[in-house]
Amino acid sequence: MKKAVILAVVLSLSLVGAASAARMGPGPSKDPNTGKAYAGSETCKTCHAAQYKDWKNTIHAWMVRPIARGDLKNAKADLTVAGAPRADQYDWAYAIGGWYKEERYTFWDDKGNIIDGEFEYTKPKNHFSLRKNKDGSLSRLDWFNECANCHATGVNYKERTFVEFNIGCESCHGPSADHAKAPKKVKGVVDSTTESCSRCHIRARMKGNLKAFNYPVNYVVNQPQTMMKDVDPEPYTAPGSFWPDQKNANRHRQQYLDWVKGRHSTVSGLTCATCHDPHKGSLDYRTGQLRADPRALCGSCHGEIVANPKKHSGHRYEVASCTSCHLPRTIASGTVSNHTFEAIPPSKSLRYVDAQGKPRMPNSCGYCHTKDSAADLDAKYKVIFKKN
Ligand code: HEC
Ligand code: HEC
Ligand code: HEC
Ligand code: HEC
Ligand code: HEC
Ligand code: HEC
Ligand code: HEC
Ligand code: HEC
Repeated sequence: MKKAVILAVVLSLSLVGAASAARMGPGPSKDPNTGKAYAGSETCKTCHAAQYKDWKNTIHAWMVRPIARGDLKNAKADLTVAGAPRADQYDWAYAIGGWYKEERYTFWDDKGNIIDGEFEYTKPKNHFSLRKNKDGSLSRLDWFNECANCHATGVNYKERTFVEFNIGCESCHGPSADHAKAPKKVKGVVDSTTESCSRCHIRARMKGNLKAFNYPVNYVVNQPQTMMKDVDPEPYTAPGSFWPDQKNANRHRQQYLDWVKGRHSTVSGLTCATCHDPHKGSLDYRTGQLRADPRALCGSCHGEIVANPKKHSGHRYEVASCTSCHLPRTIASGTVSNHTFEAIPPSKSLRYVDAQGKPRMPNSCGYCHTKDSAADLDAKYKVIFKKN
């Protein structure tokens, strides 16, 4: 009897040991497509101190933060709000996001997997809600399969490994351990393509037997054609993800899906990195990584319009900026702006209505002209732009 108890204690102790030893976390990882090894951003810091320092001042470097049972101090949400998670509620693992749109909370399951749980904090509304499955049970998502490739660096979907949390140097520069060891022999890789950013700034799932992965897995640096290989992008007909014009996004992280619908995507050499500085920033989500103030940025190519905004749009720049009409924040309670660059006309709000005749989609004008109906705005639009 006594022996059995001791054995049970020893067994359970070793199980606890095994469970924590098997906990998913950063470690050695290789690119699943090329077999090249990752080194991690701390390794790059030694020789690229300037880029490292700039990068640390972008949200890319601060998305995933550790929490623990009894300790939610790395959460950004206001935990005094009704419905907030309790510090002792789960074996907490990591808090995700919380900078501008929402924060989510993960915990460990008994196999050491990171599970994205039910709590969702909506930042602009300062409000907590519970995510549930169709059958009413609490949402439980495997963080590795559902989120990892976009919120961690050096993810190997075949081996369930990654080199570090957050969007580190090698998220954009690719596996660089060989370069870091012998920079004179192996050159660092620069990838300024739109796809380099878009493999994360997209909503898409893999097809066929890789369907478990909620992100593109085949991307190889400087091979933009690999990004969409065997990928099922969110369809433009999905009502929760796009507005009824089947063009403009209605959910976050769809910048690429917006992008391909606009003419900027057809301009040779114009990519995400033309307007966004991938390193430099501030922790201000909105304009954190813009290369210049939008007026100067748009003006570098649309000089004539910026020189005479009133002629272009009927508004002085101080009253309505290029971004207020062309990157309206139509997504997720106004937290994310549109990347089709369309100044959405009021005629779309008139065309797409529900059974009661209420508009099912916003337009660029209504955010400021809040007292005007869509019909009033449509009339005003025609005065300025002389079109339907
Ligand atoms: C031991 C020093 C050292 C380490 C560590 C190191 N690099 Fe480099 N890296 C260099 C040198 C030297 C160059 C070439 C000179 C230059 O342009 O700065 C370079 C150049 C680069 C370039 C530019 C290539 C180009 O064509 O302009 C990139 C990108 C780069 N490194 C990325 C990384 C990343 C990512 C890491 C971390 C995984 C890293 N480096 C670690 C020394 C290093
Ligand atoms: C979000 C993507 C992204 C991340 C993260 C990123 N870079 Fe870059 N990096 C780029 C792009 C794109 C360029 C090409 C130049 C440009 O557009 O400014 C570049 C250029 C460079 C260069 C060439 C010299 C220069 O500054 O233009 C070096 C060196 C470099 N990066 C190192 C790093 C290191 C080290 C880190 C991590 C501390 C890092 N990068 C993080 C995308 C990124
Ligand atoms: C590995 C995935 C990944 C890659 C690659 C990536 N991003 Fe991001 N990006 C994210 C995630 C995730 C966030 C949200 C982070 C948060 O809110 O904590 C984000 C946020 C941003 C933001 C808003 C935050 C800020 O600091 O202003 C900008 C702008 C941005 N990304 C641009 C880019 C550009 C440009 C590139 C390519 C040069 C790029 N991203 C590459 C995943 C990625
Ligand atoms: C295909 C890549 C991708 C996948 C998969 C993905 N995300 Fe993201 N996520 C992003 C990007 C890019 C952003 C920032 C851009 C934006 O908000 O438009 C973001 C933003 C967020 C934010 C808002 C951050 C803030 O600071 O407000 C949260 C929270 C988040 N993601 C949680 C998750 C969770 C949880 C999962 C898995 C269940 C997940 N994401 C899966 C790419 C991804
Ligand atoms: C022609 C310039 C331009 C290009 C190209 C561009 N962006 Fe942006 N982006 C902007 C501007 C301007 C803002 C700020 C909008 C605002 O004030 O709300 C922005 C904001 C963002 C934000 C965060 C904040 C927000 O308001 O949504 C993300 C994330 C982002 N861009 C990602 C991307 C990605 C990914 C690409 C490539 C597919 C891209 N951008 C291409 C101009 C550009
Ligand atoms: C690097 C140059 C460059 C920058 C920077 C740039 N644009 Fe453009 N933009 C172009 C070119 C070139 C076209 C024309 C494409 C065509 O006609 O096929 C264009 C087209 C457009 C269109 C028509 C789009 C459509 O799909 O019909 C709009 C709107 C626009 N730009 C707005 C902006 C705004 C707003 C900014 C600043 C945030 C900006 N652009 C920054 C080069 C640029
Ligand atoms: C009050 C809203 C509004 C503002 C502010 C505004 N635009 Fe526009 N812009 C529009 C509309 C609407 C159209 C489409 C007109 C049409 O269909 O003929 C347009 C069209 C464009 C085009 C495409 C022109 C073409 O030949 O197809 C570009 C480029 C552009 N705008 C750039 C800018 C820039 C740069 C700024 C900042 C100085 C700016 N816009 C400010 C509403 C605006
Ligand atoms: C960023 C805010 C903003 C946006 C976006 C905006 N407007 Fe305005 N608009 C104003 C303000 C403020 C005035 C008041 C006049 C002034 O101060 O110059 C105004 C004035 C006007 C006027 C003249 C006065 C009136 O109300 O009849 C018209 C017409 C107009 N806007 C139409 C539009 C249309 C059409 C759009 C969309 C394509 C639009 N506006 C987008 C802020 C905005």
